Amino acid sequence: MTAVSAGTAEFPHPAIAGKLETLARRDRALSIAALLDEDPSRVERFAAEAAGWRLDFSRHLLHDESAATLLELAVASGVLEDRNALFDGSPINHTEQRAVLHTLLRAKTAPVGLEQEFAEVADCKARMGDWVQRVHDGSHTGHRGEHIQSIVNIGIGGSDLGPRMVVEALRPYWVDGIDVRFCANVDPDDLAAVLSGLDPHSTLFIICSKTLRTEETLHNARTARRWMLDAGVPEDGIAQHFLAVSTNLEAARDFGIPEANILPMWDWVGGRFSLWSAIGWSIAFAVGMQRFEELLAGADAMDQHFRTAQARDNMPLWLSLLEVWYVNFMGAAAHAVIPYQQQLAKLPAFLQQLSMESNGKSVNHAGQSLDYATAPILWGDVGTNGQHSFHQLLHQGTVLCPTDFVVITGNVAGSEGKARLLANGLSQMRALMVGRDQDASQSSLEDRGIDAKRATALAPHLVIPGNRPSSTLSCEALTPYSLGALLALYEHKTFCSGRIWQINSFDQWGVELGKEMGAEIFAALGGSGQSFDASTDAALAGVSHE
Ligand code: F6P
Repeated sequence: MTAVSAGTAEFPHPAIAGKLETLARRDRALSIAALLDEDPSRVERFAAEAAGWRLDFSRHLLHDESAATLLELAVASGVLEDRNALFDGSPINHTEQRAVLHTLLRAKTAPVGLEQEFAEVADCKARMGDWVQRVHDGSHTGHRGEHIQSIVNIGIGGSDLGPRMVVEALRPYWVDGIDVRFCANVDPDDLAAVLSGLDPHSTLFIICSKTLRTEETLHNARTARRWMLDAGVPEDGIAQHFLAVSTNLEAARDFGIPEANILPMWDWVGGRFSLWSAIGWSIAFAVGMQRFEELLAGADAMDQHFRTAQARDNMPLWLSLLEVWYVNFMGAAAHAVIPYQQQLAKLPAFLQQLSMESNGKSVNHAGQSLDYATAPILWGDVGTNGQHSFHQLLHQGTVLCPTDFVVITGNVAGSEGKARLLANGLSQMRALMVGRDQDASQSSLEDRGIDAKRATALAPHLVIPGNRPSSTLSCEALTPYSLGALLALYEHKTFCSGRIWQINSFDQWGVELGKEMGAEIFAALGGSGQSFDASTDAALAGVSHE
């Protein structure tokens, strides 16, 4: 039986959308550099500040009138009223009938009606801190009494990307004597590399899984257990080396992890929003509980900004409106995030899950197919490395790819390398904007001693069109606090875009089909005899079982 179609949905608020379409046709022809030259105060107007971060969005193909119309869209979409539903525990993840309360994990006081949840979070944090303290001071040891020296987080998706990124970002804050590692992939080579050089007797695993039904995590947890046993850790000593974080307490107990070693998760925290919960235990082991609390405080500061700032000053809202502007009115299908800070190297990978798992959707709340675009492909890598690779496409390619440059402005005086790093970030944004025309290209070639005829022929290859949009996100120092604020900023941006697109940003049904098929194909690899399609069958036939 064919399902009854719920129909197709056009971009919400057609009158405003029509106006934005008209404005976009005009703004495509703007010169960003000229906008700034003619009106330097644009830098002040096209900016927002919150929790130590400044967003400069003056380098966009966006006229004042278009910016004002985007704000009209925000008002019409009700996104700012909807903020409250995020904070007050309304079941806005309607397909799973769940509240979305990651903000509660960093709240300083109990929101009305959420006293019970707040108390559970406080209790969880106290237990988390107690464990961190006992591992750090050596009162919890390995089964033979060795001081714990290595923590291995086994988890994937939201149970990996956030903690992994934060642990790396906070490297200068690592406590001495503890090595924190991460294993996500079901490929045994990942776990083998992670375990390489570790002493099983002084290693503590955290099995991180909201559901504890995730194939990769369960398989890796079993392999880690086997690694312990093979190294001579007795059955009755194993429990001392395993912690777990999950909503599925029963599965954790069944795995042999004692109750005291299990911390809870809640249905009202989405995996990709969960680093603030005990899923971030590895962070607390790496930097200590006080630093973890500072991370939460930074996120809370951004929460308060998002919650209270007017639309015009609201930083997460602006990031979202720029996304909507480019995706829906300028035809961009990609968005890059390039942190100019080595410790933020894993930020793009974290944001990929946050943005693409949240907003990579094609039906609205009513189940109607969308005839407009949603989340762009988010990608990126750390600067300056990308300059020697994909920046070629950013400067001269044919793809419109607005880019967020994340820069840290402190430390420059004391470090030539940091000064070079910042100079590179700023120069990339400037080069993207101003470009280089035919004449300048020709002169540059002639300056290099190339004769005029050859220079004329070569010049088109050096032309950089410019006028490529970028945002600057700057902050003085990367600290637990500023990192927390930055991550919360992108979380709220994701929420705003989802609300404007009228999609559910908090489910992820799309990832399930492949997992189900994976189980069938795994069985076929084991000889189930099931047939699929010609291509899959041919691949299976080619598998060597030697
Ligand atoms: O496959 C998608 C997903 O469900 C993510 O949303 C989640 O972060 C990840 O898998 C891991 O899930 P879990 O924490 O339940 O193991």
